[in-house]
Amino acid sequence: MVDEFSAKPTTAEILRWLREDDPARLARLWAAADDVRRQNVGDEVHLRGLVEISNICQRRCAYCGISALRTDLARYRMTPPEILDCAAAADAYGYGTVVLQAGEDPELTGPAIAQLVRDIKSRHRLAVTLSLGERGDDDLRLWLQAGADRYLLRFETSNAELFARIHPSAGRHGRSRIEMLHRLRELGYEVGSGVMCGIPGQSYDDLAADIALFATLDLDMIGVGPYIPHPHTPLGEQVEILRLPAGQQAPNDELTTYKAVALARLVCPQANIPSTTALATLNLAEGRELGLQRGANVVMPNITPMAYRRLYEIYPAKACIAETAQQCIQCMQARIESIGRRVGLGPGGRTGRTKTKPAEDVS
Ligand code: 5AD
Ligand code: FES
Repeated sequence: MVDEFSAKPTTAEILRWLREDDPARLARLWAAADDVRRQNVGDEVHLRGLVEISNICQRRCAYCGISALRTDLARYRMTPPEILDCAAAADAYGYGTVVLQAGEDPELTGPAIAQLVRDIKSRHRLAVTLSLGERGDDDLRLWLQAGADRYLLRFETSNAELFARIHPSAGRHGRSRIEMLHRLRELGYEVGSGVMCGIPGQSYDDLAADIALFATLDLDMIGVGPYIPHPHTPLGEQVEILRLPAGQQAPNDELTTYKAVALARLVCPQANIPSTTALATLNLAEGRELGLQRGANVVMPNITPMAYRRLYEIYPAKACIAETAQQCIQCMQARIESIGRRVGLGPGGRTGRTKTKPAEDVS
């Protein structure tokens, strides 16, 4: 590996890379991230089947297309049998993990989700990841006891002032997202977080601090994608844009996102890092592949039933042209193999703490 990458980058070095635009130097960053990825998590690309179980949300995040502010959007909540069918499909496709994601839907109660997790774990050898927003300790404990393995909660930005601006009703549980991430770790979850790149009002310094925070939190999973304006949201309509002085705003472009993925890999060598759908949305032809070649080792195929998928529009024109889950899988697999990588088998957790049932226990 090149000398300049022999130690984890400091915040000052992260900042320099985020501002770097020389293609030859950036090629060294991509190569270093790819090396660190190969040495630490290998060539396997793990697949996580994403099920968007409800687009009902009581929060008012200024950037998000399914926030409670969207009164024009039809709302859905999948039934437990529908969700179990998706988990069965994930298993049949050979995915090691199912991710249940939703808005902050009060009807997705602690006991209801716990029952769902128990049902999935008793039927399948799947790791279960939950991504259900900010929740209290009682729910988090219940879900862990039911067998949940991982929790995803992006902190979105480490700039507390910017966070408060774009999350009007934040802190319902009296704690910040970062405090909740610490709590998830204490409880025993594998912990995932991440940010959007280029939120209006997010400076280069902010983004560098975000990436340094990934290391401090010692994240097991890191999701970074570009901020994509949604026209029916306050931030997308530019109603409440925080304008920074020229040259300070972090761009929400493809290149900045690759840099953030590569730097995330350098600061958290063993993390599972997806090449995100938001990134693929900016470059349908090869965004997914370039993410995987610049630090990422995971993809999250969307297995939400087609009828619901168009209603889970957190940002416009999410990348996936498939009309069936089967088409999507074939596309993902071809993309992975086209860059000389292979699809990973099994749950693909970071720490080996994944509590999947042994085969003989599966009823
Ligand atoms: N553009 C890009 N990403 C978005 N998310 C929400 N809204 C947008 C948007 N407009 C991301 C957030 C959230 C994740 C589920 O989706 O980072 O945590
Ligand atoms: Fe869904 Fe390619 S990833 S169509």
